[in-house]
Amino acid sequence: MNALLIKAVSPIVWRIPGHDARKLFGFARAEQGSRIDLEAAARLTSSSERRAAYVRHLLDEGRHAQMFSLRSAELRRKAGKEPYGVPRADTDDLFERLGEVRFLAFVHRGEGRGRRQFEVYRDWFGRRGDDRTRALFDAILKDERRHEAYTWELLVELAGGRAEARAELRRATAWEAWRTWRRAGRFLAERVYFALMAALYLLLLPFALIARVVKPVSHGWVMPPLEAELSRPRAEARTPALPRRRPANP
Ligand SMILES: [Fe+2]
Ligand SMILES: [Fe+2]
Repeated sequence: MNALLIKAVSPIVWRIPGHDARKLFGFARAEQGSRIDLEAAARLTSSSERRAAYVRHLLDEGRHAQMFSLRSAELRRKAGKEPYGVPRADTDDLFERLGEVRFLAFVHRGEGRGRRQFEVYRDWFGRRGDDRTRALFDAILKDERRHEAYTWELLVELAGGRAEARAELRRATAWEAWRTWRRAGRFLAERVYFALMAALYLLLLPFALIARVVKPVSHGWVMPPLEAELSRPRAEARTPALPRRRPANP
């Protein structure tokens, strides 16, 4: 989503009751996800300099997650609701899957996108008079600019030049588009499956009702009718009948 579109929809979406706390918590989860990816990068990189840079970066992202989460909790309590809790995120093992160069291209793109988005939100909250949330975005933006700058420097160094780094960015863009398309397809497939199953269930409902009327279903233990049990001879009921003795020969 580009900055222009975000600017256009901000006045509408941020006015939706509860949207602010929900959106900020969403950012907290995204920051937490970045922190997890950077942990893998710090663990797996072959360079101690880059490891130090990734560790500093992951500490920033962890702090951002906490800041967004705390502000979200404040807004939830103000609205008389329970906070969302601890922000959790999944990881796609990006460093392992993409390799360090593509991973850096991916992170650099994400940092730039996040920075542009946060700038719009900072200005929006400033105009609205919410200085607390504006200051939150402002503080986080300082780190995001640094993340964007250092990932570009590392990308140029590892890719072997600025032109090569730009080519990596284009590949990262294509990979991200493919990933988004696949995720959207999975999301859609789940909904279609659910809709089909619900339709099938409703379609079969009349047949199930007819079957129930024709042959009622009995649940649990089925006891024999009491009258039949009482009319049964007692000895027969308890012991099997013995074979009769043959009469002795006269
Ligand atoms: Fe961040
Ligand atoms: Fe960042």
